[in-house]
Amino acid sequence: MHRHVLIVLFLSILLTACSNNPYPEGKKLYQQKCQNCHGADGNGIEKLMPPLNNSDWMANHQDKLPCIIKLGMGGKITVNGTDYNRQMPANEKLTEFEIANIINYINHAWDNDLPFRSPEWVQKKLSNCKE
Ligand code: HEC
Repeated sequence: MHRHVLIVLFLSILLTACSNNPYPEGKKLYQQKCQNCHGADGNGIEKLMPPLNNSDWMANHQDKLPCIIKLGMGGKITVNGTDYNRQMPANEKLTEFEIANIINYINHAWDNDLPFRSPEWVQKKLSNCKE
């Protein structure tokens, strides 16, 4: 009896921990490399930094994420109806594993429900970056 209660308690703690934070490595990297501009809540900063939370651009350009994260980006883009034309810095030292972790974190953080991406998928996209 007593033991069952403990097991149920343990399982529910484990479940809560998992569902709150499914990609802890990606979250850590996001906090170090992205959060200053895109925000802890993923909503960006007014008209200066575009949102990653509920971003139509991010949902429609998944194939570009690995190259953007590694090489940065610039030029005019429209995110959820707002125009941005600024420069995002590169992260040339990130590995395909780290980039996959970041993508999986942002694809599933906040209100986002976008696909899981493997390091192999990231590597394939990285071998095809333009510019
Ligand atoms: C110094 C600020 C800065 C940092 C740090 C930064 N970004 Fe950005 N990011 C920008 C800006 C500015 C743009 C818009 C670029 C443009 O206008 O072409 C952008 C655009 C984007 C976009 C496409 C537009 C959108 O909102 O969907 C994605 C995705 C993105 N960033 C993800 C990331 C990720 C992931 C990281 C961390 C690895 C990161 N950014 C780090 C400033 C930043």
